[in-house]
Amino acid sequence: MTIDLCGIELAHPVINGSGTFDVIAARRVFGDCVDREFPFAAFVSKTITLEPRLGNPPPRLFETAAGMINSIGLPNRGLAGYIEHDLPDLATLPVPVITNVMGSNADEVGQLLEAIDGRDEVAAIELNVSCPNVKTGLDIGSDPAELTKLLAAVRGKTAKPLIVKLTPNTANVALVAAAAEAAGADAVSLINTLKAFAADPARPGQAWLGGGGGGQSGPAIRAVALAQTCAVAAAIALPIVAMGGITSAANARQFLDAGALVIAVGTESFRDPMSAAKIRDGLAGRV
Ligand SMILES: Cc1cc2nc3c(=O)[nH]c(=O)nc-3n(C[C@H](O)[C@H](O)[C@H](O)COP(=O)(O)O)c2cc1C
Repeated sequence: MTIDLCGIELAHPVINGSGTFDVIAARRVFGDCVDREFPFAAFVSKTITLEPRLGNPPPRLFETAAGMINSIGLPNRGLAGYIEHDLPDLATLPVPVITNVMGSNADEVGQLLEAIDGRDEVAAIELNVSCPNVKTGLDIGSDPAELTKLLAAVRGKTAKPLIVKLTPNTANVALVAAAAEAAGADAVSLINTLKAFAADPARPGQAWLGGGGGGQSGPAIRAVALAQTCAVAAAIALPIVAMGGITSAANARQFLDAGALVIAVGTESFRDPMSAAKIRDGLAGRV
């Protein structure tokens, strides 16, 4: 089942969705067995921003009929903290590390890419473009022209494979994917969470989540993710990392059949931290 993802050799096609598996905490609690039974073929970090972020006020998670809405708000140690505290741990994982970064403008993204480019521990960079442009309020990744501008400014900052993580919250994801391809992305990943709202039952019209709105993930978004994977696969020739509600080898197979090279498991890891290993084994015909 060996896969070549932009020159990175993966033992199988199952990785994690950014922000959905805290491997450092898992190792602290469960020790060596995490490495021995490692479920993912590569490990994608949570999104790193230039400066540290505390994230959103609680509550941060809301369970829905088929998944959840999160409003975590990208808490992270910032670039310097990631390099000093997290990367040394991640570098000892038994699989390649993909660092996920996000910035609100080309200068921030450029600094992140340049810094990670210098780290031998990192095999590839995933660029999360679900970030609002401070001037327009629109997510950079929702507009092909904005994304073209961003990538034109930053692509040269790293020689590492660059995976652009697309947002599903756009009118035409295939146009955005084509813009990423034309501007030098090495792969795309999709989908990130869909914009969603959890109403507070005690306060009509008010948000239940501390951060206001949030992002829906899990089985509720699988059909949307599959449709967007098909649309992107038809529009571009780049490798695709597909995710969104994958819970079994059978539905992982549908994403691979739709044109994905690799699939990622996100929300399902909260329900069963070993779900990715079961999906991997199911794809290999071992279960
Ligand atoms: C709690 C939570 C935190 C997430 N954090 C990030 C993040 O830091 N960066 C990112 O690019 N995506 C983040 N995501 C999105 C996932 O990586 C994935 O794209 C999305 O959840 C769809 O996959 P799923 O339905 O299998 O969870 C997060 C999702 C969840 C549920």
